[in-house]
Amino acid sequence: MLILDSVHTFYGHIHALKGVSLTVNKGEIVTLIGSNGAGKTTTLNTISGVISAQSGAIYLESSQNGGSERAGDVQEPGIRLDRLHAHEVARLGVSQSPEGRKIFARLSVKENLAMGAFARTDADGIRSDMARVLELFPRLEERLSQPGGTLSGGEQQMLAIGRSLMSRPSILLLDEPSMGLAPLLVQQIFQIIREINAQGTTILLVEQNAQAALQVAHRGYVLETGHIVLSGDAQHLLSDPQVAEAYLGI
Ligand SMILES: Nc1ncnc2c1ncn2[C@@H]1O[C@H](COP(=O)(O)OP(=O)(O)OP(=O)(O)O)[C@@H](O)[C@H]1O
Ligand SMILES: [Mg+2]
Repeated sequence: MLILDSVHTFYGHIHALKGVSLTVNKGEIVTLIGSNGAGKTTTLNTISGVISAQSGAIYLESSQNGGSERAGDVQEPGIRLDRLHAHEVARLGVSQSPEGRKIFARLSVKENLAMGAFARTDADGIRSDMARVLELFPRLEERLSQPGGTLSGGEQQMLAIGRSLMSRPSILLLDEPSMGLAPLLVQQIFQIIREINAQGTTILLVEQNAQAALQVAHRGYVLETGHIVLSGDAQHLLSDPQVAEAYLGI
């Protein structure tokens, strides 16, 4: 569904992504783990078009381009996201729940959720997605008219994920959803991520909490200073000595 092929991203002279290649298949939870500064957020921002890749390609296979190839065309594996602006990528069903939540502090919880659906016009669908989000996050339902900025950290995290879901994404990019949360809430957030996936949303999950991320994911990639150094089955990575030593504190 999503393919990164040797993606290089720079901030001025800083070479942040040094040829990152990864794939996310439809229906999967794939996790990208790595330490501070490895390039995890940069990877998500490059996919969503917030930053442009300097070279390499990013493909999204979506229902809109399926089966449209004609005889004689060179068949690409999807739409080239790296040639699009962030708002165009968002319209293709790629939704990012950013690091540090970035909710609208002065808007109410309900208005924050509605912002997630700004590009949609299907009122019935928006209503049913709102109901689904409030079912996933009952805490938000109790706080619908409260300004987003007055929510606790964990509640803001729920709001950020809920807002992303309101765009009815085909792929959800989650940037450290467990950051700063109490252990009990961390478990809850990962349970909800599993549920969102079970309901049909493909997920690329960035995490420093490698243990929890690998437990919920199907597959994983380990990023170190802009390079993918390891990849594979989540269960396999969990038992990999290199991963255990560097990321699981074992
Ligand atoms: N706006 C920027 N300008 C310059 N350098 C940047 C910028 N954003 C990130 N970087 C650099 O790019 C590298 C990758 O940063 P990135 O934020 O992607 O890491 P990360 O894996 O998300 O880390 P963390 O776990 O701390 O969030 C780092 O060396 C960082 O200093
Ligand atoms: Mg980050």
